[in-house]
Amino acid sequence: MLVSAKDMLNKARDGKYAVGQFNINNLEWTKAILLTAQELNSPVILGVSEGAGKYMCGFNTVVGMTKGMIETLKITVPVALHLDHGTFEGAKACINAGFSSIMFDGSHLPFEENFAKTTALVNTCEVLGLSLEAEVGAIGGEEDGVIGKGECADPDECKKIADLGVTMLAAGIGNIHGKYPDNWEGLSFETLEKIKAKVGDMPLVLHGGTGIPADQIKKAISLGVAKINVNTECQLAFQEATRKYIEEGKDKVGKGFDPRKLLAPGFEAIKATVKEKMELFGSVGKA
Ligand code: 13P
Repeated sequence: MLVSAKDMLNKARDGKYAVGQFNINNLEWTKAILLTAQELNSPVILGVSEGAGKYMCGFNTVVGMTKGMIETLKITVPVALHLDHGTFEGAKACINAGFSSIMFDGSHLPFEENFAKTTALVNTCEVLGLSLEAEVGAIGGEEDGVIGKGECADPDECKKIADLGVTMLAAGIGNIHGKYPDNWEGLSFETLEKIKAKVGDMPLVLHGGTGIPADQIKKAISLGVAKINVNTECQLAFQEATRKYIEEGKDKVGKGFDPRKLLAPGFEAIKATVKEKMELFGSVGKA
């Protein structure tokens, strides 16, 4: 069964650990993440961007695949299926398809519009028992080869959005998606502390989990971060393991070309990455 992320995040906030959101791209990704969560008895959030949803043949397919796996693999830990960085239209489509958690990312919109659209979704999600993530202060990343510096959110705007009654809040604190550049200044804990002081008990979300040093992750959790998103790191692990398999010529030995063999090292690499993150975030044994 898919569940809202509300209970798992409130428990994480109270227990001073974080639940990982791992983005999925296909069957291997989803299976690897679900099995690792079950093996480690950890709650987990599967993140689906609109692009990945489209790639996987739409949100209905994603819901069907995930629910089917949960049943067949006998997954009993809490699993939330979460739209990542959704548009308003995408959020409505995922609600209709049966997602259990939604992120509406209005951070790039004028604040008033972000506020109005988040308000509309708070009501819908509340009625349907879904968790809702909102974002303030856009999270940077690489776009067209230009690496943007992570923005820092305005704590007063964070409070206004948190007070709408969202389940969790993503706020820019100098984090960016993808690999961090060598001259990255690190997370702005000063901003995080100011946001936390304004939003009180609201679980905070740290995007761009790939490549943030362990000590900064731990400090962010101690200051109120209860959900951490990881995407690129699983992709890099998959790439490296698949490259090694082919470079070693294993695809040319026997039935090494069989996709079930060809994709196996990448699958194991995703599992290892997810395990490492769950241990770092402290969610092991917390299902
Ligand atoms: P990374 O790709 O940097 O891990 O970020 C993932 C993320 O924040 C998804 O919303």
